[in-house]
Amino acid sequence: MKLVRILLVVALSAISCLAADLTGNWLAATPLPDGTARKVYFELKQQDSKITGHIRLTQFYYTITENTGNPDGFTVTGTMQDGDSVRHAVYEGKLVGDELHMATRRRPDAPLTEVVAHRVADGEGAMPARIDPPALHKVPYNGLAKTPPMGWNSWNKFAGRVDDATVRTIADAMAGNGMKDAGYTYINIDDTWEGEQRDASGNITTNKKFPDMKALADYVHSKGLKLGIYSSPGPNTCAGYEGSYAHEEQDAKTYAAWGIDYLKYDWCGARNLYTDQEMQAVYQKMGDALRGSGRPIVYSLCQYGRNDVWKWGPDVGGNLWRTTGDIRDAWDSMTKIGFNQDNLAPFAAPGHWNDPDMLEIGNGGMTDTEYRTHMSLWSMLAAPLIAGNDLRDMTPAIHDILTNNEVIAIDQDPAGKQATRISKSGDQEIWARPLAGGAYAIALFNRAKDDAKMSVKWSDAGFKSKPRKARDLWSHSDVKIGGEDYSTTVPGHGVLLLRVSTK
Ligand code: GLA
Repeated sequence: MKLVRILLVVALSAISCLAADLTGNWLAATPLPDGTARKVYFELKQQDSKITGHIRLTQFYYTITENTGNPDGFTVTGTMQDGDSVRHAVYEGKLVGDELHMATRRRPDAPLTEVVAHRVADGEGAMPARIDPPALHKVPYNGLAKTPPMGWNSWNKFAGRVDDATVRTIADAMAGNGMKDAGYTYINIDDTWEGEQRDASGNITTNKKFPDMKALADYVHSKGLKLGIYSSPGPNTCAGYEGSYAHEEQDAKTYAAWGIDYLKYDWCGARNLYTDQEMQAVYQKMGDALRGSGRPIVYSLCQYGRNDVWKWGPDVGGNLWRTTGDIRDAWDSMTKIGFNQDNLAPFAAPGHWNDPDMLEIGNGGMTDTEYRTHMSLWSMLAAPLIAGNDLRDMTPAIHDILTNNEVIAIDQDPAGKQATRISKSGDQEIWARPLAGGAYAIALFNRAKDDAKMSVKWSDAGFKSKPRKARDLWSHSDVKIGGEDYSTTVPGHGVLLLRVSTK
């Protein structure tokens, strides 16, 4: 009897193993504290040893192109086209009862992280159908951002931890600590404010972290500041939250009703539906929607500088456009971005700015000297000055860097001309920026670790006659000049930032 039972169990498990089939729509949902969930969909089809289908998570939608193994232990490789490049995702999986265990590495050298997926209805989480982008036309200028926008954004310091209380207390800090007086105006909420689902009428909702966006905007406005928000032209944002895809006009109206003053619009999930060449039309759609919203809203394009955005940014109603991938709070990242902007000078003008990404000043990864270089370089570049640190808690040195009025005056110069590099010798670079009224801002940057002797020839900066006045904008003192040029020692990773004029 015992033997029969054992044989039966063995036979049954053999049958179930043969019958085990990965085919189906699987969802792994990890709940997040904001009431939403991080979702990964595995839409799989198994035919004998071949597995096909899709993997969808955050902003990514992969088509399975390779696999090995069987339901007891297999791998799938997903592939997706992203502009000019191809991305891959590799999962190791196994069926455990009615659960699908899937593990992947965030980086090739990282340990495996496992998620557990369960079967859900076919079609759940499917990529929406593509809506063809509109024909191109020019979106009229909204009259905003005559000088580069100044403010704060939540992403660099808080990422997914930003919430209503943080935004209110940051607004309190900005209004009270001299930053507002120095010109900082916008308090921008980045990704992760969105609710999991739109309401029954398709309106975008907020998640638990933002109980009442209108009340928050009223609060920020009561401090004499403005509120910014974030979305994507794709179905999902970069962090996987709800994007504005197919709801552009509706979302623009919602922002206007809430009292939003600034939108950062991040390509992210749109990469699965549109080519880089279609970006202009896709961004134009939201440009039109914002114009039609009845509220002046600064339009900030974030598509990492792809498809020469500086050539068409103004035509879609953009006030600023990111020129690069994401900045990190590190000297290498900041300098790689900042010193690479030379060829973009012709595209900056009042109302329309190149955006080399937000400031990292005060986030702890660089020295104060390096942060002074960061602030100087961004000001030379007529870049938006969007602080990315915790304004409620900063050292006096960081506060002084962010609120240096003489440096900010360079950034905000009404002529709106971006600096260009006038000389480079090894790690030493000199940049010059023509200012309204005939003066120049001249920055002597020493990218080397050690101090370096540097000299600038005034005529190289653009002076036709000998300048008479030079002011050091970090020491707040006049510098004695006389001849055709000026020489000094610049500290390692440091800068001498001068305002030079003939009067
Ligand atoms: C992208 C952007 C960042 C930030 C994140 C949010 O990476 O470039 O600035 O907005 O998305 O998910």
